[in-house]
Amino acid sequence: MTTATDFEKLGVFYLGRPWDLAARKPKPGLVLYDSKDLVTHAVCVGMTGSGKTGLCLALLEEAAIDGIPALVIDPKGDLADLMLTFPELRPEDFLPWINEDDARKKGLEPADYARQQAELWRKGLAEWGQDGARIRRLRDAVDIAIYTPGSEAGIPISILKSFAAPPSAIRDDGELFRERIAGTATSLLGLLGIDADPIRSREHILIATILDAAWRAGRDLDLASLIQAIQTPPVARVGVLDLESFYPPRRASSWRWGSTTCSPRRDSPRGCRARRSTWAACSGRPRASRGSPSARSRTWATRSACSSSRSS
Ligand SMILES: Nc1ncnc2c1ncn2[C@@H]1O[C@H](COP(=O)(O)OP(=O)(O)O)[C@@H](O)[C@H]1O
Ligand SMILES: [Mg+2]
Repeated sequence: MTTATDFEKLGVFYLGRPWDLAARKPKPGLVLYDSKDLVTHAVCVGMTGSGKTGLCLALLEEAAIDGIPALVIDPKGDLADLMLTFPELRPEDFLPWINEDDARKKGLEPADYARQQAELWRKGLAEWGQDGARIRRLRDAVDIAIYTPGSEAGIPISILKSFAAPPSAIRDDGELFRERIAGTATSLLGLLGIDADPIRSREHILIATILDAAWRAGRDLDLASLIQAIQTPPVARVGVLDLESFYPPRRASSWRWGSTTCSPRRDSPRGCRARRSTWAACSGRPRASRGSPSARSRTWATRSACSSSRSS
């Protein structure tokens, strides 16, 4: 008989139990994945509802417990559930996150529905040999921070610093300098929703030219001066072309700057709430970070006790 400690060995990810296809139920034993096998790329494919998100969350949680950090880019917005882990499994922990429509459909008061959910999770976890103490291990093992570019739902991202001229060690190294310029231009254009090829895109070449001119002179840029420079470039020619034929200023007027001008506002109640709810930073622990254009909040109810138990 396997015991809970079998899946607590470092480097072993507990993913559930083997599945008996014919009997359509789990078989005894544990599915333990050796994290050493996760050394290259992997793809997780399956129909909607087949369990991709559940499996990937389980991998992230198991990695966190083992002290392996993760950077999670989440355009869809359902991995914020990683933060909805309550070691005490108290109904009041669940209450702010339940789906009130589900409670209404069942004819239950939110508090009663939250109590049911807490019980469901406790039982679900127990069926898979887990309990609140394991959730505590996860919470103690990892900081989770949710960054939300273009929004203050989580921790907003400020890109302003990236326009400061790099130190001379980088400026004097041709390759590093070009890399820094290209990286900054690509990131900025990405935030603007412009998919730019560094070699052919006129937008990319224009921004790179502006950054190159300013940084070479040791001059910092900020977003305002960069926008100005794009509208009235400080160069007369780009390569062999004069500016007007290379990039008429009117083309730049259609760029959507809105999502890039967000910077952390300490006085923002929403920002502060989000910061408070992120786990306190604690040095030496891995950090699982996640970026999402829109942090969904009420996603808890969409995970059943089955997925909570990181079943096979
Ligand atoms: N291994 C599993 N065993 C049983 N149910 C699962 C399992 N994995 C996920 N589920 C359940 O199936 C539903 C869909 O899972 P999800 O991971 O969201 O699928 P996908 O991301 O592939 O659309 C969820 O309600 C989840 O609780
Ligand atoms: Mg999914």
